[in-house]
Amino acid sequence: MNRKIKWSYFVILLASFGTFVWILNFYLSHHDFRGSLISILKKNKLYQEQTKKSNPNPYEITMVTLYIPLDKSQNKFTTDTYRIWMRTFGWMSNKLVALVTDDTTMNHLKKIRSHLPPERTVLIRVNRSQFGSFKDLDRVKKIFSQPHYPIHKPNTVKAEYPITMNAKYDALQMAMDMGHVDTDYIAWVDIGYFRNLLYVKTPKNYSFTLEIPLDFEDTKIGFSEVGPRVSHTTPWDYIRHNIVWVAGGFVLGKKPVIQKFIKNFKRAFQNLLNHSMASTDQQTIGAMYSPQMIKEQNVKLKTYSCPKGRLQFQLFGSDLQYFCLGYICKEDAQRRRARVHSGQAPQTVPTESNIGL
Ligand SMILES: *[C@@H]1O[C@H](CO)[C@@H](O)[C@H](O)[C@H]1NC(C)=O
Ligand SMILES: *[C@@H]1O[C@H](CO)[C@@H](O)[C@H](O)[C@H]1NC(C)=O
Ligand SMILES: *[C@@H]1O[C@H](CO)[C@@H](O)[C@H](O)[C@H]1NC(C)=O
Repeated sequence: MNRKIKWSYFVILLASFGTFVWILNFYLSHHDFRGSLISILKKNKLYQEQTKKSNPNPYEITMVTLYIPLDKSQNKFTTDTYRIWMRTFGWMSNKLVALVTDDTTMNHLKKIRSHLPPERTVLIRVNRSQFGSFKDLDRVKKIFSQPHYPIHKPNTVKAEYPITMNAKYDALQMAMDMGHVDTDYIAWVDIGYFRNLLYVKTPKNYSFTLEIPLDFEDTKIGFSEVGPRVSHTTPWDYIRHNIVWVAGGFVLGKKPVIQKFIKNFKRAFQNLLNHSMASTDQQTIGAMYSPQMIKEQNVKLKTYSCPKGRLQFQLFGSDLQYFCLGYICKEDAQRRRARVHSGQAPQTVPTESNIGL
C-alpha cells in the first residue's frame, strides 16, 4: 500500500515536470511571447526612469564649470591640454552646466557629452565681460604692478588669472539665476579636476556619478583641505606667502548656502582690494576665515582631507589633497549604490575629516 502511494507520487511528479518543461519550451520558442516579455521589461525600465524624474535622487549634485582660455603668459596649461582633460566630463553622469567663451570649446564639450541624455548638459556661450569678477581687472592689475608686490606665478602676476578664478562664483550664481539647477546641491568643478582618470585603466563605457559625501552637513560649504589652518595667519600672510588652506577646484553646497557664501566671498575680495591686496580665491578664502575677517562670515566650511602616506583614489602627491572632495563624492555615490544593492539603508558615517569651524 505505502509503496504504491510512493510510486503514484513519483509518476505524478514526473508527469508534472514533463508538462512544465514542455510548456516552457513552447513559450520560449514562441516569438511573440519573447517579444512581449522584452516589451514588459522595457516598459518597466521606462516606468523606473519616469519615477526617477518625478522622484529625483536627493544626494545628486548639479555640476557647474566655466572655461575661459588664457594665454601662456597668464596660465601654465595650454588650451590643448584642457581639451584633453575635458574628456573626463563625458564620463560624469551628473547634470553639467558649462559656461564657455569660445565656439571651439562649446563644440568640443557638446561632442564629449553627446551620448548622455540631452537634459544632462547645458552649454552656455558667454562673454567674459558678463562676469562681475572682470569688473575688478584694472584694480587687480594696479595692485600687481605695485613695486615689491609678492610674485607667485600664476596667482599674483597677471590679473587675468585670479579674476578668472573668481569668475567661478559668478558662474555658480548665473547657473542658479538661469534656473538650470533643479537639485538641492550645486558644486563648482574645475574643468581639469578629474584629469587623473585619463591615466587610470578604465572600461570603454566608464561612467561615474558625484553625490554629496555620506557625512556632508547641509549648513556648510564643502572644500578639500590642502594645508593646516594656522590660527595666527593673517590675510596678508595668505597672499604674500601664497598659503593654501582649502582648494578652489571643487566647491560644494546647498543652493541657499552657496548663495550666502558667494556674497561673503565677493565682499571679502572687495575688502582685500580696498587694502591693496589680491590673489586667487584660495588665498581669499584663507583670509576670510583668518582671525581678522572670520567675524564677517556667516557660513561655516566643512573641509575634507585625504591623508597622505597610503594609496588613495590612485592619486599621488599634492593631487590627493587638491582633488580629495571630488573623489569622496564619487566614492560615496558608489557606496550608496552598493548599500541599495545589498539591501542596506544608506547611512551617514562620521569621518575624521569632520572638522567644523
Ligand atoms: C564681449 O564684450 C566686449 C566688451 O563689452 C566686446 O568688446 C566684445 O565684442 C564682446 N564679444 C562678443 C563675442 O560678444
Ligand atoms: C559596460 O560594459 C560592460 C560589458 O559590456 C557591462 O557589463 C557593464 O555593465 C557596462 N557598464 C556600464 C556602466 O554601462
Ligand atoms: C571698499 O571701498 C569702497 C570705497 O571706499 C567702499 O564703498 C566699500 O564699502 C569698501 N568695501 C569693503 C567690502 O570694504
